Amino acid sequence: MSSLDYFLFGIYPYLCLAVFLLGSLMRFDRDQYSWKSDSSQLLRAGQLRWGSNLFHIGVLFLFFGHTVGMLTPHFLYESFISAGHKQIVAMVSGGVFGVLAFIGVTILLHRRLTDPRIRQTSRPSDIMLLVVLWLQLVLGLATIPLSARHLDGSMMLLLAEWAQRIVTFRGGAVELLAQAGPVFKLHMFLGMTIFLIFPFTRLVHVWSGFGTLAYVFRPYQLVRSRNLGMTPRQPLGSRMPGPVDTPARPAAASKPVHKQS
Ligand code: HEM
Repeated sequence: MSSLDYFLFGIYPYLCLAVFLLGSLMRFDRDQYSWKSDSSQLLRAGQLRWGSNLFHIGVLFLFFGHTVGMLTPHFLYESFISAGHKQIVAMVSGGVFGVLAFIGVTILLHRRLTDPRIRQTSRPSDIMLLVVLWLQLVLGLATIPLSARHLDGSMMLLLAEWAQRIVTFRGGAVELLAQAGPVFKLHMFLGMTIFLIFPFTRLVHVWSGFGTLAYVFRPYQLVRSRNLGMTPRQPLGSRMPGPVDTPARPAAASKPVHKQS
């Protein structure tokens, strides 16, 4: 293994993860008005509907597939599914959703580059991000025929072990990549780079996207009262004000409270 390998696959992952986590925290803390997906739907909706939906369906599956597939230790699933079968599942599902995401991101990139209004309102980082995602999908799809050459799942196990050692701060990770070819390595490098650029792009909306899952599991709903004097604890049968029937503020609220000295 060369010293470049040691840097790219032993040190660079930690650089990317540190920038991803701390950078996201700092951007949220210092620049919340820029924390958004920056939808361009108002400028042109038609192509966005297809591009964005195909891309998001594909990329969300790939995201969860990579996370679960790479980070689940082999001993946890080996009694249910063999490494070879798991690899075939990964190749087929990754192939289908990879193609969906690829078609989606190609539409998004085409629209961003060719629609004059969207082009004018795009920051360089918006275009660069779509190009990086496009390349990453091409590289990911290019690994499928390579994986088909060794269907026993051995390469997949080595790559998963590399990822598990990196996230658990164990040594000996880089050496596992001795057999990995350039397409796998480029795909891994660009994948880590997406984490590196994450806080400086619109990708920050992914945190909020996953954050909305909290609403599904929340056992209550927050409802804002239209009447300032009405508190959520007020009994249900109490008088509800209509739009023109706005009552005076309750005495307690309108009277200034003087402290007795
Ligand atoms: C977690 C769930 C997610 C939600 C709710 C979400 C939502 C959105 C929304 C509302 C937009 C604005 C465009 C539109 O109106 O469709 C958008 C754009 C975008 N999202 Fe997501 N997203 C999610 C996850 C992701 C992931 C995992 C990625 C990539 C790794 C991603 C990459 C992008 C990109 C690149 C754009 C800009 C597309 C363009 O150039 O117009 N999103 N997303």
